Amino acid sequence: MTLAAESKLTFPKGFGWGAATAAYQVEGGWNADGKGPSVWDIFSHQEGKIVNDENGDLACNSYYFWEKDLKCIKELGLTYYRFSLSWARLLPNGTTCNINRKGIDYYNKLINDLLSNQVTPVVTLNHFDLPQALEDMGGWASEEIVNIFDEYSAFCFRTFGDRVKFWITINEPYVYADLGYEVGIHAPGLKQPGTLLYQVGHNMLKAHAKAWHTYNNLFRQLQKGFVSLALNSDWAEPYDPSSPQDVSSCEHYMSFSLGWFANPVFKDGDYPSVMKSQIKDRSEKQGMAVSRLPEFTAEEKKMIKGTADFFALNYYTSRKVQHSEKPLDVQSFHTDKEAEGIVDPSWPISGVSWLAVVPWGLRKLLNYIKITYNNPIIYITENGFAEKDPPSLEDDRRCDFYKGTLLEILKAIHEDKADIRGYFAWSLLDNFEWSYGYSIRFGLYHVDFKNPELPRTVYKSGKQYAKIISHNGFIYAKE
Ligand code: BGC
Repeated sequence: MTLAAESKLTFPKGFGWGAATAAYQVEGGWNADGKGPSVWDIFSHQEGKIVNDENGDLACNSYYFWEKDLKCIKELGLTYYRFSLSWARLLPNGTTCNINRKGIDYYNKLINDLLSNQVTPVVTLNHFDLPQALEDMGGWASEEIVNIFDEYSAFCFRTFGDRVKFWITINEPYVYADLGYEVGIHAPGLKQPGTLLYQVGHNMLKAHAKAWHTYNNLFRQLQKGFVSLALNSDWAEPYDPSSPQDVSSCEHYMSFSLGWFANPVFKDGDYPSVMKSQIKDRSEKQGMAVSRLPEFTAEEKKMIKGTADFFALNYYTSRKVQHSEKPLDVQSFHTDKEAEGIVDPSWPISGVSWLAVVPWGLRKLLNYIKITYNNPIIYITENGFAEKDPPSLEDDRRCDFYKGTLLEILKAIHEDKADIRGYFAWSLLDNFEWSYGYSIRFGLYHVDFKNPELPRTVYKSGKQYAKIISHNGFIYAKE
């Protein structure tokens, strides 16, 4: 192989190799050592919410078994590890009126252990698990959350920011708002279609921006870190590329997912114009005096614009998108969009129906981000493949998925010149997969949930990932 061909199979020097988890999905210890309940504790304890009525009370028990996770991180050779803080473990009722020392100790240990093993921590402040005490006060639907989140963020920057240099304020505001407040299959399980999720998204954007400014004004100079929010998106490919309607529906689809949060933060402080006009128009026709999508004031737009130091992208899948006229009597986010995402029958499906395997969609999405948002520094903060339970340790389909995806990322780096600095596999471990409970598995490590020791065993895909990491790419020839 020529040197030029070899370099196309190699990642840039210093490329970040990571895996990700989230507190509620792995920690367990749901009421240990003074932790307060989160919305997920309350939600998953209700009957009928989760497959087999499972919950994260124990999960991977990482609160007590952190050393086992660290061993996996070291075995893989990760240079980055993304995890989230349980807000209610640190601040049991959500505010700094009550600080839980044991929670601080736990995360200090994680951070210090990572650093002493040359692994850079990437810390998410809120990954779906709002303290229940705050939900009881209106949660993300209430504007009060903006200041409360700011107080929590400042507390975390002050407590851990001497060592943590990568912060993600909120994980996937789109999924958080849609599944938690519109569809109701995630905590807190509210269903007020077409209204509440827009309010929630609005407050999340303001909360994120305020926290970014707090970091920027009070901590950045000393701590020299980076702050962003993690945005998820499918790639939208026109169902019929020769249909102008399908092509413009793709723009709707992207605006209502990625653009909803990326435009305000990375572009102009405001929602995408198609989103504004579409929702306003439908709201008017539905007899409302104002749009169901709240508006930002000029001052708020100024406050939100530019509040990210890098682009954190979570990518799982793609859709073929078709225009679809929706009746006005149905008021919902999905009807506002007037674009239908369809899985192409030729795409392989993972162990969960929504996750069709489309690695090339990621390359297109990376290009779209590069062009639309002015060539930002990008970290792919989540990407992964689900297997059904019970899984095989020989997870060949997941191996192909990761290989295919990483090859597309290499093309985006070398051919399209996207500025991609790191990649995080979802997930380090099999864990509590929200409404699916333990029925599907995303791990690079298998977890035996029937064994009280919860042993972690590497999958074939984990071994493959370790090999790619150790070669910083796909040139293994010298072995
Ligand atoms: C979330 C993870 C989740 C993963 C797979 C992402 O939406 O951030 O918490 O486990 O997707 O569904």
